Amino acid sequence: MRTAFVNTRLDADQQPPGFSPRKSNERNVVMKRLKIALAKGDGAGPEMMDRACPIVEKAARRDDVEIDWVETPMGWCAFEEHGDTLPAESLQKATEIGTLFFGAVGDKKLDRTLGVENKGMAPEPRCLLTIRKEWGLLLNFRPMIYYKALDHLARVRPEMIPDSGIEQHFIRFLLEDTYFGSGDLAHEVGPRLCESLGVIPKKDDVTGDEERVTDLGYFKRSTLEAYFRYAFGYAKQKQLPLICISKSNVMSRYVLWVNVCNRIHQDEFSDVDLRHLYVDAANELLFKPAELHGVIACGNEHGDILSDGAASAMGGLGMMCSSAVNPVNGKAMFESGAGTASDIAGQDKANPVGRILTGAMMLRHIGVPKGAEAIENAVNEVLREEIRTADIAKFDEKPVTCSEMGRLILEKL
Ligand code: IPM
Ligand code: MG
Repeated sequence: MRTAFVNTRLDADQQPPGFSPRKSNERNVVMKRLKIALAKGDGAGPEMMDRACPIVEKAARRDDVEIDWVETPMGWCAFEEHGDTLPAESLQKATEIGTLFFGAVGDKKLDRTLGVENKGMAPEPRCLLTIRKEWGLLLNFRPMIYYKALDHLARVRPEMIPDSGIEQHFIRFLLEDTYFGSGDLAHEVGPRLCESLGVIPKKDDVTGDEERVTDLGYFKRSTLEAYFRYAFGYAKQKQLPLICISKSNVMSRYVLWVNVCNRIHQDEFSDVDLRHLYVDAANELLFKPAELHGVIACGNEHGDILSDGAASAMGGLGMMCSSAVNPVNGKAMFESGAGTASDIAGQDKANPVGRILTGAMMLRHIGVPKGAEAIENAVNEVLREEIRTADIAKFDEKPVTCSEMGRLILEKL
């Protein structure tokens, strides 16, 4: 059997050049204390984080590290108490610490108005996009490893999976694109030009009941150059091809994307195999996952969409782990990317594994490698014993609860 997750690690020797995890310079101190900002978030976030935190804490002791959690409430839970989904104090504390373990925010039940009523408070953009932008989180790592113990779950036929397994290392470009375009441009080019571009709707634009609303997407050459250097460096260290996802057949920002990719490849990484795919073709290949074996470089929006599909095809969204990293100063946010599962909040049903593995990514990033490995091994063991939560269980088996899953993984440590 393949060892799962072994390649999800951001080992120092697997990291792209220039990647600088925050390391302790006091390694010989007996028990070192490390602060991590913690936002458990909304929906089933807190119950999953309550499983993940003790695991991270216990695992860190393997490297003689004691974790000090610093609660930095974010999301609707914070709104209820502080009148803001991203309280200034939470942001400030988290920024000072530079490492944030994040449960997921948002809850449709609490916001039927898409943030319109409480203007600017929709927690997904307010928390995630603000932090990504302020911290300069350029890279979003989302490794998907085909894991044999879950092969009944893969939405693809097992015979389509090679014995050597499949690794899809999504490395999503986490800045710019349609997520930040309108806001950035309104700031950079001023409201007048934005109005002419349709970013800020003008009264005259409204014909009858029809409104025009635009989300502009843009890429900057310099940010793309930095991004592709890391993406190629990552592919090179993993000895995997780089698969460049685009839509350059119709979108001009993707023409720049492909050009920058090709130039960095030709000038600096010609030893890495490079393949180009349009995003629609890549989406189709999620159902033939062996064809996407490699490091997958994708824009912000494409990466958001494709990575959820890939996680589902490879085992389940609840298993996805994710880190968002500023490769220059090491600031990072660890958010599994799987959402709040608010429909099952409070029922002890959610799968905490994605959060737990995200915790392992976090430990490796802050220089706690033995702890990270211990978590991954414990998760492997539990899954190998066919212990599964409802989302990943076989239809005829009794699933374990979120807390049981957490307890069993904790016991293995
Ligand atoms: C993710 C989430 C976020 C994103 C949302 C909540 C802003 O879907 O981390 O994938 O789109 O990046
Ligand atoms: Mg997403």
